[in-house]
Amino acid sequence: MNITIQPEAIVSLRGFEMPERLGFGTVMAPVMFRARYQDGRWSDGELIPYGPLSLDPAAKVLHYAQSCFEGLKAYRYGDGVGLFRPERNAARMAHSARRLCMPPVPESLFMDAARTVASHCATLIPGNSGESLYLRPFLMGTQPDLSVTASKAYEFYVIASPSEAYHAGNMRLWVEREDSRAAVGGTGDAKVGGNYAASLLSIAGLKERGYDQSLWLNPGNRHTVDELSGMNFFAVMDGALHTPALNGSILEGVTRDSMLALAREQGLEVHEREIDIDDLLALVASGTCSEAFACGTAAIVSPISELGDGDQRYRLQQAPGPVAELLRRSLLDIQEGRAEDRFGWMQKV
Ligand code: COI
Repeated sequence: MNITIQPEAIVSLRGFEMPERLGFGTVMAPVMFRARYQDGRWSDGELIPYGPLSLDPAAKVLHYAQSCFEGLKAYRYGDGVGLFRPERNAARMAHSARRLCMPPVPESLFMDAARTVASHCATLIPGNSGESLYLRPFLMGTQPDLSVTASKAYEFYVIASPSEAYHAGNMRLWVEREDSRAAVGGTGDAKVGGNYAASLLSIAGLKERGYDQSLWLNPGNRHTVDELSGMNFFAVMDGALHTPALNGSILEGVTRDSMLALAREQGLEVHEREIDIDDLLALVASGTCSEAFACGTAAIVSPISELGDGDQRYRLQQAPGPVAELLRRSLLDIQEGRAEDRFGWMQKV
């Protein structure tokens, strides 16, 4: 694939000044990647200045939400730049696209896009541990047409944001017993905006009640744990690591998979299984479940200090606990190049 680097993109990069405070996802790199799909084929890609998109008000994405996205990170790695498991994101984006009847972005296009953005933004990758260049690829149907049919035209972008981790510190979770984030047979295992939109009402107002995030239950049975709005859930019980098994309504997190691999490597007992919420709360109350944490690309590993259910609060004994600390450190050591990449996760750009 040919990739055009627009001269204006290079000018934007030269003029970019990195702000002192980053936060997560608020500082945007001054360039972005774009490719277009029309008449059954993808265009070549181009690196262009970051800026507003021009969309027809009747574009399918604005009405029927034909869009999906990804999140992956680029790190300073050795003498260059490293992407963490980008092929997993490419595969998941293809899965999400198929679920919404969109043409999957070919893996080669996805990888070229991620590499192009990461390499041109190399000087924007922050250097403190836990910081990175967060890449946000997204795909959307742009055909102007109000009929409820799949778009015939699509655009694929990769934008980038020099960022800190999404959540710092401990999280207090509210067990959401009323609403669902995804439906049975729906899009829970696809990375689509609608899942996140459906979670917002539950999260709104949580802070005032002393919580940070909702913990979603399975939409089919309403009593087993699925995940958080943008992170997978883990609990440590009697020294063993437990996480909800993939069931069609849980997003298959790249960090989730990495946690499982690192835990097994450490000799920890690992269980992917259904976790009943009432059993979990009882085990937290008795101290058998001593720690819990959530993980995701953006958040890395976030300890959970409390689970709230109705007017009951259940405190975890250890937050952060030793397992979360060990796995977080082991992951960052690989991502930031301090440890050998024994799983072959890093791709040098
Ligand atoms: C990620 O971890 O990459 C996510 O997509 C979570 C989020 C900030 C929506």
